[in-house]
Amino acid sequence: MKLIYLLIAAVPARACPRERSLHSTLSHVVGRQTSSAPVLDTNEQLLVDSFDNSSIATWSYYYTHGAHLAGKNKTVAQWTADRWAEFGFTSRLDEYYVLLDYPVSHSLILTYPNGSTFTPSLKEEALAVDETTSYPNSIPSFNGYSFTGNASAEYVYVGRGQQVDFERLLDLGVELKGKIALAKYGGPFRGLKVKNSQEYGLIGIVIFTDPGDDGNITEAKGVSAYPNGPARNPTAVQRGSVLFLSIFQGDPTTPGYPSKQDSPRADRGNLVPHIPSLPISWLDAQPILQALNGYGTNGSDVNRTGWVGEIPGVSYSTGQGAGATLTLSNVMEDTYSTIWDAIGIINGTNQDEVVIVGNHRDAWIVGGAADPNSGSAVLVELAKAFGKLTETGWKPTRTIVLASWDAEEYGSIGSTEWVEEYVPWLKAAAVSYFNIDVAVSGPIPVLDATPDLHNISLEIMKKIAWPYRGATDLTMYDVWKQETGEIGVLGSGSDFTSFLQSGIASLDVGSINGPDDPVYHYHSNYDSYHWMTTFGDPEFIHHKAIGQYLTLLLYHFSSDAALPLQPADYVPELNTYLTDLEEVIASANGTLDLSELTATIGTFEASAEQYNALRDFAISTSDADLLTVTNQKARDFSRGFTSQGGLPGREFFQNLLFAPGLDTGYAPVTYPAITESITFTNNFTQAQEFVGKTANAILLAANILKT
Ligand SMILES: *[C@@H]1O[C@H](CO)[C@@H](O)[C@H](O)[C@H]1NC(C)=O
Ligand SMILES: *[C@@H]1O[C@H](CO)[C@@H](O)[C@H](O)[C@H]1NC(C)=O
Ligand SMILES: *[C@@H]1O[C@H](CO)[C@@H](O)[C@H](O)[C@H]1NC(C)=O
Ligand SMILES: *[C@@H]1O[C@H](CO)[C@@H](O)[C@H](O)[C@H]1NC(C)=O
Ligand SMILES: *[C@@H]1O[C@H](CO)[C@@H](O)[C@H](O)[C@H]1NC(C)=O
Ligand SMILES: *[C@@H]1O[C@H](CO)[C@@H](O)[C@H](O)[C@H]1NC(C)=O
Ligand SMILES: *[C@@H]1O[C@H](CO)[C@@H](O)[C@H](O)[C@H]1NC(C)=O
Ligand SMILES: *[C@@H]1O[C@H](CO)[C@@H](O)[C@H](O)[C@H]1NC(C)=O
Ligand SMILES: *[C@@H]1O[C@H](CO)[C@@H](O)[C@H](O)[C@H]1NC(C)=O
Ligand SMILES: *[C@@H]1O[C@H](CO)[C@@H](O)[C@H](O)[C@H]1NC(C)=O
Ligand SMILES: *[C@@H]1O[C@H](CO)[C@@H](O)[C@H](O)[C@H]1NC(C)=O
Ligand SMILES: [Zn+2]
Repeated sequence: MKLIYLLIAAVPARACPRERSLHSTLSHVVGRQTSSAPVLDTNEQLLVDSFDNSSIATWSYYYTHGAHLAGKNKTVAQWTADRWAEFGFTSRLDEYYVLLDYPVSHSLILTYPNGSTFTPSLKEEALAVDETTSYPNSIPSFNGYSFTGNASAEYVYVGRGQQVDFERLLDLGVELKGKIALAKYGGPFRGLKVKNSQEYGLIGIVIFTDPGDDGNITEAKGVSAYPNGPARNPTAVQRGSVLFLSIFQGDPTTPGYPSKQDSPRADRGNLVPHIPSLPISWLDAQPILQALNGYGTNGSDVNRTGWVGEIPGVSYSTGQGAGATLTLSNVMEDTYSTIWDAIGIINGTNQDEVVIVGNHRDAWIVGGAADPNSGSAVLVELAKAFGKLTETGWKPTRTIVLASWDAEEYGSIGSTEWVEEYVPWLKAAAVSYFNIDVAVSGPIPVLDATPDLHNISLEIMKKIAWPYRGATDLTMYDVWKQETGEIGVLGSGSDFTSFLQSGIASLDVGSINGPDDPVYHYHSNYDSYHWMTTFGDPEFIHHKAIGQYLTLLLYHFSSDAALPLQPADYVPELNTYLTDLEEVIASANGTLDLSELTATIGTFEASAEQYNALRDFAISTSDADLLTVTNQKARDFSRGFTSQGGLPGREFFQNLLFAPGLDTGYAPVTYPAITESITFTNNFTQAQEFVGKTANAILLAANILKT
């Protein structure tokens, strides 16, 4: 699950929920950065050559032709474990018993002031050419963890549904209490739109997709809609979870411990909504929005970013006084369900160091060709490549773990419960976690990672050929450098979250569509094999390239004598986050003594320099004992950044450097406890307290690193 801002447009991206911005204006002319074609060693060449787009297509076909909603399909979990086993991994299924909910029935009616009504279909049209859109067990449009209930009231348009949007409505004199919210997708994670609606006193919420977030690929701009063309099918609905993701992830009834049959259960209380919600298509939203035209403040006068969309004939007015009402009903079945994480392992010769690669398997729809099964197909092919390498007698130095997570879509449930079960081992042994969710929804590579992974993750890109808009002589690095150009900070929205929050070096990679690429139908029936083979990645060439990338990254982490993490690369990043924080303080007109933080960044820098000197000496002398010491330091130092007590009001989030924004859910905030004590509660006392805690955390990391 994931959402992204491309230029001004919010476009769904590779992993489940998240936003980022692209660096360039997508000129489509990418120059080669490296002077020569990639040079690979024998093992690298074998791994890369093992990748075959037709076998990837076979795996993709399998995953995308049967319902595999969270907790509903053990067969596909076992199938994944079996493929990995065929390729030499010791595989198993790890089961958890978690709270989920499934749709039973829903309805929505618009009643005009004159009493006549409009009944939205709430359905995505079945397409003859796209067979999985008409499977009899197709999954209705709904929100995971949504509330069972009815609401009937006047409604107002609330933009993207961030707190600032609701504040703006109050400024404009719009009555919110007792109303139903009509919100646009994009911006904050959808669960936060629901949370905000609830907190501002609204009694229900309807969330619609808007073609204004589709860049240049819209019917209004003359492009045909799917399946005839690359624009969005107007009936497409974005399903998705409404868990309060910026506060908590995992099974809301087992905070901090794994969900087993007999686990004690906590009250889910304030982690899931208490008002009903429904997601709808832009076609269903059109008359509902039009009924607000001319009432309240015209959309263009609201003066909020992202407020006005591009549904024809709609002014995006706030709607105060329109007199039209919505009647919505949402019935869910709450259940505890078994979920299955497939786990595949090859023991390293050194079992004190473990590298994990994960992808979720569950999808909201029968297809899921991009989210998440482009990643699932890649992971099977990656296992195949390692199988070929082990046939040559190669053994990894470090243990390799592959994970196929279940129930990611509800809030990274499968990965969070697994991390909670194995956290002592993971904190002791994990050298990195690599996540691949939406491997491919378009041709542009994107990468988010902790700073210690920046250097190696870019260096590996230089070894991968990346076909791009007809050019065949470019590397992944060339394309990334021009089109993305920045490694993002990890926020949340996919299975890396629990690893990151445990202080484990983490990375999330994929490739996305730009504003001139075919529209990716995020969490819709049209995220299908047919869409992928017609528009997304017809020949599976980007599946292949991203799989080769992940494979080489894993290869180096599993077998390089010196662990390829660069702790020193935290230094410039910590300083950048500090500059950002200073701006936050200045714009709040406050003062905060940051000297402790500044000083510990200096200490960290000195420790990192010492570390580099020792590691370089260990490498140059091939001193195995010394390498063990330096590798362990690189593995462990980032555990220091975590704090048991967590961030204010959200104990789940323990990393004092990175967290999803409280009111964004996907997009990250750095020095989150300090920053949001200012931006959310304007509590400088608390901010100062967390300057101390954050400085201590950095000092702890420095002490682990120093020699
Ligand atoms: C489980 O998923 C697989 C792969 O998508 C599919 O072949 C199978 O039909 C699904 N099972 C059910 C009961 O839907
Ligand atoms: C009621 O109002 C709606 C929206 O303005 C309009 O489309 C419809 O024709 C009206 N119905 C009657 C019976 O006047
Ligand atoms: C759309 O196309 C125009 C003209 O080619 C271009 O300038 C613009 O950046 C494109 N993207 C968006 C989001 O409009
Ligand atoms: C709303 O504003 C837009 C842009 O300024 C304008 O074209 C439209 O006529 C306005 N609509 C109403 C109902 O005032
Ligand atoms: C929106 O901003 C414009 C220009 O800054 C201003 O003229 C207008 O009054 C503002 N509208 C509202 C409703 O505040
Ligand atoms: C909620 O709405 C549905 C659909 O209109 C209706 O069948 C049901 O009786 C309503 N429930 C309550 C408690 O009003
Ligand atoms: C891998 O190592 C674990 C832990 O030491 C051990 O229990 C397991 O049997 C090993 N697996 C294989 C296939 O050697
Ligand atoms: C990675 O680090 C090496 C050694 O410091 C440096 O030469 C290289 O330019 C770095 N690569 C990138 C992509 O930053
Ligand atoms: C694999 O790629 C080749 C070359 O791009 C292409 O001709 C072939 O059709 C692709 N195979 C599949 C199954 O897409
Ligand atoms: C900070 O001060 C400036 C200038 O006095 C003022 O415009 C702004 O609203 C203040 N900001 C806050 C958050 O108080
Ligand atoms: C500010 O935070 C501190 C805890 O750090 C708390 O004791 C205090 O009540 C908070 N102040 C306000 C105004 O909320
Ligand atoms: Zn996903």
